[in-house]
Amino acid sequence: MRNKVIAGNWKMYTTIEEGVVLVKGLNAGLENNTLENKKIIVIPPFLHIPSVIEEVKKAGKIHVGAQNCHHEKEGAYTGEISPRMLKQAGVEYVTLGHSERRQYFKEDNGMLTIKTAAALAENLLPIYCCGETLSEREAGKEREIVQQQVEEGLFNLTEEQIKNVIVAYEPVWAIGTGKTASPEQAQEMHAHIRGLFRTKYGENIASDLIILYGGSVKPNNAAELFGMPDIDGGLVGGASLKAEDFLGIITSC
Ligand code: PGA
Repeated sequence: MRNKVIAGNWKMYTTIEEGVVLVKGLNAGLENNTLENKKIIVIPPFLHIPSVIEEVKKAGKIHVGAQNCHHEKEGAYTGEISPRMLKQAGVEYVTLGHSERRQYFKEDNGMLTIKTAAALAENLLPIYCCGETLSEREAGKEREIVQQQVEEGLFNLTEEQIKNVIVAYEPVWAIGTGKTASPEQAQEMHAHIRGLFRTKYGENIASDLIILYGGSVKPNNAAELFGMPDIDGGLVGGASLKAEDFLGIITSC
């Protein structure tokens, strides 16, 4: 059986101090929760990572991810952070290909396949994001777009590598909009993604693959979404910034 994963993407929100307070709240809220078959990840801005790691270590319940990384170990790349730097800081996960990175920073599938391999080479676990825009869905192209993102971004990885990848399906029209994909819409796409993995890598890898849903996940809709057979948890933006909301999502799954 697959574990449930709940990841909170803080984006470019919170000061370091606010981030630490948020983690203290999560630690306190999870004190009596054994988190059986559940993994909780927070994904703060780079600058917050050392303080957040120090805080999560006190309770040992929460894992830490980064929001992006460069593909080289080091080099003359002003403003970038390498997978090796993240690993040395104690980071375990990294989101790659979030739609905001694709849209505002022109990251494409070709770049993302290189970043994914680079993260894996440092034993960082990628959370690879995919998802269609509203116009793509309205044109009936959502399956095709997601298929292209998954195939071009991930399918040159070996079986050993792909086992360490989490996929997040995040329809762009549902991110930060308060509009959620219906559980049926999300399930349909998750089943499609799992099917792509089955065809490429076989049943064992496909059935172990963790596929998160993202896009306006809230405490009041999480249970229904996470109850679908191919939805293994969520990548949560806005609702991960308040301990109470994020804890509500964790306990509803
Ligand atoms: P949201 O963001 O939950 O605020 O819609 C999700 C995401 O961008 O990962």
